Amino acid sequence: MQNSPLTAKVRKDFPILKREIHGHPLAYLDNAATTQKPKCVIDALVNFYEKHNSNISRGVYTLAEEATEIYEDGRETVAKFIGAADSGKIIFSRGTTESINLIAAAWIQPKLKAGDRIIVTEMEHHSNLVPWQLAAQTSGAELLYWPINLESEKSGIGSLDLQKFEEMLKDATKIKQGIRLLAVTAVSNVLGTVNPIAEIVKIAHSHGVPVLVDAAQAAARMPIDVARWDCDFLAFSGHKIYGPTGIGVLYVKNERLEEMQPFQGGGGMIRQVNRQTSTWADAPQKFEAGTPPVAEVYGLTAAVEYLSDIGMQEIQQHEIELTNHALKRFAEFNDLELYGPQDINSRSGVLSFNLRNVHPHDVAQVLDESGIGVRAGHHCTQVLHKRLGIVASVRMSFGLYNNTSEIDLLISELDRCRQLFIE
Ligand code: ALA
Repeated sequence: MQNSPLTAKVRKDFPILKREIHGHPLAYLDNAATTQKPKCVIDALVNFYEKHNSNISRGVYTLAEEATEIYEDGRETVAKFIGAADSGKIIFSRGTTESINLIAAAWIQPKLKAGDRIIVTEMEHHSNLVPWQLAAQTSGAELLYWPINLESEKSGIGSLDLQKFEEMLKDATKIKQGIRLLAVTAVSNVLGTVNPIAEIVKIAHSHGVPVLVDAAQAAARMPIDVARWDCDFLAFSGHKIYGPTGIGVLYVKNERLEEMQPFQGGGGMIRQVNRQTSTWADAPQKFEAGTPPVAEVYGLTAAVEYLSDIGMQEIQQHEIELTNHALKRFAEFNDLELYGPQDINSRSGVLSFNLRNVHPHDVAQVLDESGIGVRAGHHCTQVLHKRLGIVASVRMSFGLYNNTSEIDLLISELDRCRQLFIE
């Protein structure tokens, strides 16, 4: 097995990697969907329920104080992880989807008017499209699509052209359309494209347009620095960064917090409740109604500490090496269509492709017979798939425990697909 120093170090931390699937070692290559969990994350969840379980902020007894500390320490750890110590606040949610829905309901919907526009890109996941459609539909606002590049050699296939974005903003100013938000992913969950977020935010802000960044794919793959990016909102999920399911992160810049209405009503988010009206707790509690996911925050904290100990630069470098290897191997075949940039500098380790004349679901099923887990389908990006002129694709996506042998295994198993479905 071709393990890099990083892979050799971390593979033993993931109990699930000992599993066999159909008599073969598990080759888990669906990390864009969810990541596997290191022992420290699993232990944190067990430890919380065995030793500290209590509700938070509601008791003065020891367990309640411990649970509250665990939860608030988790907030600090996450803030540090994304460079948010001073510029804004961390709100915990159930996942990226809920974080984005929170902004749609609590920030944009109350101020959207007929004729307003929200810019999204053609590469967005449904969770960064549908919440904006819902918000727009209730007010007569509309979504504008920043198209992906399908031709330019210069910008690369599957990338976003910054000049095109400038033009969209200038056109909107000419006809006095209110652009209320740009919602953009940092890394495409299909094309693997890494978008230049700092540059995009700078352009958007120069036209007075706030920016929400979907960091669901980016958070496990590269260092994130919200203060440097200067984005207004950023969302990601715990389960995609080696943490538990059911926990999400929403970063909101300080100045935007003041513009936000409550999201859900209930305990924990109020200051004073009267018979007809109430007043609100300060952020972030104002946006965290009900009992929060305390154990999940503890698990997420363990995941963030695990990643920080390894170093996000090192993780990014490992992914670049795997991606380089995959790009070289893919280039050997003329019946493999890879979607997304070919240039390693503008892509990450999410590679979607089709094998000519074989349905992606058939490919995924054949790969499973050899223990390889990949996703097949539209990957919650129907708009993007339509734009690419396809219905579905096969997606291989790397995590920090993957190695080049697993990529080579996938490539050789594609031969079996050819034999079964074409020859
Ligand atoms: N968002 C996850 C994916 O792209 C589920 O697969």
